[in-house]
Amino acid sequence: MHISVLLNESIKYLNLKADSIIVDATLGYGGHSSNILAKIPNGYLYAFDQDKEAIVEANKKLASVGTNYEIINTNFVNMKNELNERKVCVDGILFDLGVSSPQLDNAERGFSFHKDAKLDMRMNREDKLTAYEVVNEYPYEKLTNIFYKYGEEKYASSIAKGIIQYRDNKKIESTLELAEIIKENVPEKYRRQGHPARKVFQAIRIEVNNELDVFEKALRNALELIKPGGRICVITFHSLEDRICKQIFNEVSSIPKELRKLPEIPMEYRPKFKVVANIAPSSEEIEENARSRSARLRVIERVNDYGEKEN
Ligand SMILES: C[S@@+](CC[C@H](N)C(=O)[O-])C[C@H]1O[C@@H](n2cnc3c(N)ncnc32)[C@H](O)[C@@H]1O
Repeated sequence: MHISVLLNESIKYLNLKADSIIVDATLGYGGHSSNILAKIPNGYLYAFDQDKEAIVEANKKLASVGTNYEIINTNFVNMKNELNERKVCVDGILFDLGVSSPQLDNAERGFSFHKDAKLDMRMNREDKLTAYEVVNEYPYEKLTNIFYKYGEEKYASSIAKGIIQYRDNKKIESTLELAEIIKENVPEKYRRQGHPARKVFQAIRIEVNNELDVFEKALRNALELIKPGGRICVITFHSLEDRICKQIFNEVSSIPKELRKLPEIPMEYRPKFKVVANIAPSSEEIEENARSRSARLRVIERVNDYGEKEN
């Protein structure tokens, strides 16, 4: 089962009205979407997910709440094209990034370092690149770079070396085989600070799904889709995603440095957005759902073309 993270907070900050047009970029198992749908009886929900299995389950949940929704089975990087084709302008967009609990719990998907499975980690099972290719075909430099950049793993180089040496004898077939190689190539004391494979698995997942590039593009596109007065809520689960979100939100909500001293800021340089919130889950939520521990919700609002909030 998937417990939606920062559910009440994201619903509150989406500022839903009965006729709001809302996009859920990451439908997952429909936790956020079903709550949104219940609050927009005269509006419409467009929900995206690239995982067909998640969509089947979410569709059942949404159908029990209403009919005013469409599920679009594609990567959210295609959101702008999909919505432009439908000629829609939106009041709110939600991103709840990463993988869902059922994706992690289903051993067969190869996301978990606790369950033995073939190395996979694709959110979209029609994509070509899998964790198997990354681990068995990437050269040492590329592996080190990925572990370092996407996993912030300080033993990136020795883990990559360990993988290359192991590959001299045989292919790395499974998640537990990889987890064991990682464990063997970090110091003893490091093994006691959380699971030693956690960061490398995160890094490989980000690489396989091209998560950071896709998120940055999609977030920039989302800013173009939102109506004045509309909001974008983003729930991130690690510092790399959060940094991208924070940088983009800062960029679009501030006056360019070189113009800040002007007595009057020309209209075209006035920020079109205003940061509304930056919050972490409550201690109660973290206690109930450990997965929410690293989550962060950032919210931005489109102001009108005069740089003012819509009434
Ligand atoms: C954390 S779950 C969302 C859970 C959902 N909010 C709920 O409450 O049930 C993230 C979902 O987003 C999907 N996802 C992640 N990145 C995606 C992308 N680039 N395009 C489309 N779907 C994506 C995953 O397949 C997963 O189902």
